Amino acid sequence: MHAATFTELTGPEGIDYQTVPDPEPGPGDAVVDFGCGPGLYAERFADRGLAVTGLDAAETAIEYARDRAIEVGLDVEYRHVDYREWSPKREYDAAILINTDFGTFDPDDRRRILERVRSALAEDGHFAFDVLPVAALAETEWTTDWELRAGDGGFWRPDPYLALSASVTYPEEAVSLDQHLVVEPNGEATMYRFWQQHYTPDSIDALLSECGFDLEGTFPDLQGGSGPSDEDLLGVVGTIAEKS
Ligand SMILES: C[S@@+](CC[C@H](N)C(=O)[O-])C[C@H]1O[C@@H](n2cnc3c(N)ncnc32)[C@H](O)[C@@H]1O
Repeated sequence: MHAATFTELTGPEGIDYQTVPDPEPGPGDAVVDFGCGPGLYAERFADRGLAVTGLDAAETAIEYARDRAIEVGLDVEYRHVDYREWSPKREYDAAILINTDFGTFDPDDRRRILERVRSALAEDGHFAFDVLPVAALAETEWTTDWELRAGDGGFWRPDPYLALSASVTYPEEAVSLDQHLVVEPNGEATMYRFWQQHYTPDSIDALLSECGFDLEGTFPDLQGGSGPSDEDLLGVVGTIAEKS
């Protein structure tokens, strides 16, 4: 299956993977979704006749995705696994890892994931994923914000809370950190930290080639956009370099 075909597969909502010409997907092509969550994309692929495996470490996500598949009558293989440790039982035509999760891992894990993806793909397999571009690094190295929620709470809790947020940028390392301290009315405080490694087309190319991939292209998004990357997202499609 060619990267082009992602566009055909994902439909009008959400991601439409970058359009690069050539062969249409055939029913029976196999796709593995690394970090499938509730199965938003796995379902779309399955709905178009592809054999889909969805991998996720969150049991609730996998249970939800399995229930959904039964409800809508789709045949998707959902596996509750840590994909850094996963050993594929078949060869896939394509792999996806969507929602900028790749950049949240530490450097060793990023290599491990690429190694897992590589071992899952057939010789002409494709890997489509997204990362944050260097252009998305905030110019200010330290910004803060806060949010006070009453009643039914908000993003962090279903009950009232105070969230104190700080964003930190490390331009030399092309790394950003978003941290959120969520304080509940009883004084209990929980810290959430989101690290992200940002990339340029050159730096993702370098990593991919170190890990046995050729960069097929980088794109401004995974929604069919073309041209240079915008400031929010870098869509990446890699093809497997010669398989040993
Ligand atoms: C941001 S969500 C994206 C879900 C889905 N790709 C989407 O775009 O709707 C990331 C998902 O990756 C899963 N995940 C993170 N690390 C993982 C790991 N090491 N192994 C398996 N799943 C993982 C999380 O549980 C979560 O469901």
